[in-house]
Amino acid sequence: MMEKTANVMFKKKWLRQSINIFLYGSIKQRSFMGILFQKKVNRCGSLQDCVRLAYGTFNVKPQQVREEITELLGMLAADKPKRILEIGTSGGGTLFLLSRVASSDASIISLDLPGGSFGGGYSSLKIPFYKIFATQHQKIHFVREDSHLPQTFQVIQDILKGCKLDLLFIDGDHTYHGVKKDFEMYNGLVKKGGLIAFHDICYTHETACGGEVYKLWRELKKCYPHHEEIVKNRKQGWAGIGVIFNDNLSSK
Ligand SMILES: C[S@@+](CC[C@H](N)C(=O)[O-])C[C@H]1O[C@@H](n2cnc3c(N)ncnc32)[C@H](O)[C@@H]1O
Repeated sequence: MMEKTANVMFKKKWLRQSINIFLYGSIKQRSFMGILFQKKVNRCGSLQDCVRLAYGTFNVKPQQVREEITELLGMLAADKPKRILEIGTSGGGTLFLLSRVASSDASIISLDLPGGSFGGGYSSLKIPFYKIFATQHQKIHFVREDSHLPQTFQVIQDILKGCKLDLLFIDGDHTYHGVKKDFEMYNGLVKKGGLIAFHDICYTHETACGGEVYKLWRELKKCYPHHEEIVKNRKQGWAGIGVIFNDNLSSK
């Protein structure tokens, strides 16, 4: 029985790896998926087009309620963040969309744990594909590590070279202690006037993936009066984006 299960798991892993090699295996940094996606990106004339493209591309589709992420993007587009840290990239949907509203010379960090819970991270084979998201002068950094490790924090600091973040987007470990640790470790890297956004602040049904971000959010919103909740439907049972405006974090 155990041998049969191991066999099935091996076959699944092998199949996933083969599909990744077929789709993303790069020939001189250009993958089949990359060439296709790049053509479609070039045809996008507006942010709405980019959102449509992301949701219409099976392996990029953001794990977000469309109206909610669109509202957050609208909020960001006005100030065009220059430095972004995303914890939790998975299929790259939010990474792509954030790159669309970032400044033309932005530095964007994708931090994701290979095989991590709540999405499973991404294969290193996908990196050339994700690099395509960067516009001409943008730079995307890929840190495939556990966000909770001190050495990972050090890597992020090295990338930032003393500069502060305009946006910290937390969508990684969704357990109460996991998301709390992300907030506690990285909020000090956000500049005064910057934003900290959490995904999945809505109460999550126990039958779902067990997300507990809402528990932390309930605590944080009491401490940080300058916040906003972007929620399409209070009864949706997942998603919802909570934003803290970092004008008072320094007093905490
Ligand atoms: C829900 S997915 C992110 C979805 C993505 N933001 C989107 O909307 O398209 C969560 C990701 O967090 C990653 N993750 C979980 N725990 C992590 C940890 N401790 N450090 C870094 N990444 C983690 C998982 O590997 C997964 O890819």
